[in-house]
Amino acid sequence: MKSLPAFDRLWMPFTSHQDYEDCPPVVINRGEGIYLYDTDGKRYIDAVGSWWVSSFGHCNPEISAAVKAQLDKLEHVMMAGFISDATMELTAALSEILPKQLTKTFYSDNGSTAVEVAMKIAIQYHALRGSERRAFVSLGGGYHGDTLGAMSVGAIPLYHDLFHKRFKEQYFTASPYCFRCPAGKCSKDCDADCMNSLAHILEQRGNNIAACVFEPMVQGAAGMRIYPTKVLRQIFDLCRQYGVITIADEVATGLGRTGKMFACDHVGITPDIMCVAKGLTGGYLPIAVTAVSEEIYSEFKGDHLASNRILNHGHTFTGNPLASSAAVAAIKLTRENALTESARASMAHFSEMLKHLDDRAHISGIRSLGFVGAFELVKDKNTKQKFPPEARVAFKLSQKALEKGLILRPLGDTVYFMPPFNVTAKELDEIFTLTKEALNEALASV
Ligand SMILES: Cc1ncc(COP(=O)(O)O)c(C=O)c1O
Repeated sequence: MKSLPAFDRLWMPFTSHQDYEDCPPVVINRGEGIYLYDTDGKRYIDAVGSWWVSSFGHCNPEISAAVKAQLDKLEHVMMAGFISDATMELTAALSEILPKQLTKTFYSDNGSTAVEVAMKIAIQYHALRGSERRAFVSLGGGYHGDTLGAMSVGAIPLYHDLFHKRFKEQYFTASPYCFRCPAGKCSKDCDADCMNSLAHILEQRGNNIAACVFEPMVQGAAGMRIYPTKVLRQIFDLCRQYGVITIADEVATGLGRTGKMFACDHVGITPDIMCVAKGLTGGYLPIAVTAVSEEIYSEFKGDHLASNRILNHGHTFTGNPLASSAAVAAIKLTRENALTESARASMAHFSEMLKHLDDRAHISGIRSLGFVGAFELVKDKNTKQKFPPEARVAFKLSQKALEKGLILRPLGDTVYFMPPFNVTAKELDEIFTLTKEALNEALASV
């Protein structure tokens, strides 16, 4: 095992440090397309887009060129009294792709802050209208980031339970988890029964609830839980009925990832507020958007004495020009490549390859939408019985895959793939071949 100087100074996110004692992190020093290379020159396929951001592969020549050009012009200017031309260009580019009703764009730095901003806007909007709505409702299994506000609407027990005690009024629905449907149905006979829980909460508490925060079509961190359009429609319908603002967290699903520009496009409904981040710069630099309807924004208008109408929120790096230039280039690539016939064909091929895994023992719950694909490892396919946690099957699978040069990062026992839009059939073939080999070896060791 190679020693990593200064590794003992590091506190790594989302990982048990005991694992790092046996398997230290791989030090990467180069990327190209779907590949990453470690300091020894070993090649790895990045099948998860480095936490779902790398939509056009690593070191994409067009995004790199845009950032390099910006680097010699301006690295940063505060976004108060000033704004960079790059950020103006980004705002114009966004206006071409965002739903027309979302007329205002607020910038922050990452997915969590995009959600925080949306939540603050929702509370302040209601306050400005003389209403005391301060609570939020969100979906079981939801994940919206790791800052406190974003965590308050998250519902993954491992991440959130400890912290929920801090928050007064948050409500959670059942999770739209089709593989283990709370109503015992399958997606074909789905009647959005899981959202009866939302109806119930809104009936009881609707008057106190400022907004509903949800991941449209795919609950990412919960394990790529892809749910039917019927459920999403029901969320919108119920929220509208109770005057609850809809905050669509498109941080992971936005910008073509699910086969539409935004996941809400699957039902053709525009939320009141939309959060976008991750793929926005194709994985280059952090920047996020909270896009807001004119109706909500209009409550914030007022003369300079109406200080209660100011949205008192901002980050030092808000609207950073380097990130903006990367985002402009990534949006151009998204428009040119992510929603084309050939992208659709590639997504269909991806979906077919996933389905072929169904003949394997212990693989179940295969699902995909656009370029999000996943399956679950189960002990018994007939009963969907889980492996005991101590078996660590998915972890073993990811370790075996890593040895073979494939990067997977399962969520619990869910193994998922998020290839870039320009992935080739050959690369997909390699991903699935290596996954199968790694799975055989991991299962043999259980
Ligand atoms: C749906 C969703 N919202 C918000 C976030 C938080 O984004 P960030 O990690 O950039 O803060 C994530 C991150 O995975 C996400 O998947």
